[in-house]
Amino acid sequence: LPPAAEFDLKAHIRGIPDFPKPGILFYDISTLLRNGPAWKAAMSRMAGKIRPYRPTMLAGIESRGFLLAAPLALELGLGFVMLRKPRKLPGETIGYDYELEYGTDRLEMQADAVTAADRVVVLDDLLATGGTMAASIQLLRKAGATVPAAGAMVELTFLNGRQRLDVPVETLVAYD
Ligand code: PRP
Ligand code: MG
Repeated sequence: LPPAAEFDLKAHIRGIPDFPKPGILFYDISTLLRNGPAWKAAMSRMAGKIRPYRPTMLAGIESRGFLLAAPLALELGLGFVMLRKPRKLPGETIGYDYELEYGTDRLEMQADAVTAADRVVVLDDLLATGGTMAASIQLLRKAGATVPAAGAMVELTFLNGRQRLDVPVETLVAYD
């Protein structure tokens, strides 16, 4: 096996045209997740990029962000917190509403999940417009945490998502 740094992750991500709508090229990570060595290489590379930010906890964005954040938290020996779609979490929650192209959306987390002492790196599978990631960062701050960085496996650079974020963003593969 090649070392993680040299593993060709793009060879395991496929572009599916016209999904979910005509004209959209969907970058599908399912094929990477199905391949043990590819998934492992992706996680080790992300671990290397995230460790220097010294997080105390990782957050994952429902749903595909969970696939990245939970194994990475295990790898780094950290706890994991779920940022979820509305009305999924029990107990007291904190929410953050954000604008979409048409309408609005909302993410929620448990109010007692983080403290002011926490440095939480937030992770998702893919950074497109950055709207979801920006909202997640705001939600974590509302809950009292510091967010030193964000991470995503795939970045669609032509959508300039990272320009909407006020933290450094670590990504593994980029498409333009
Ligand atoms: C996708 C993707 C990111 C988000 C990126 O999630 O997994 O979370 O969109 O888009 P943005 O940068 O423009 O905000 P989706 O809403 O399709 O849901 P899923 O993760 O539950 O599949
Ligand atoms: Mg998502």
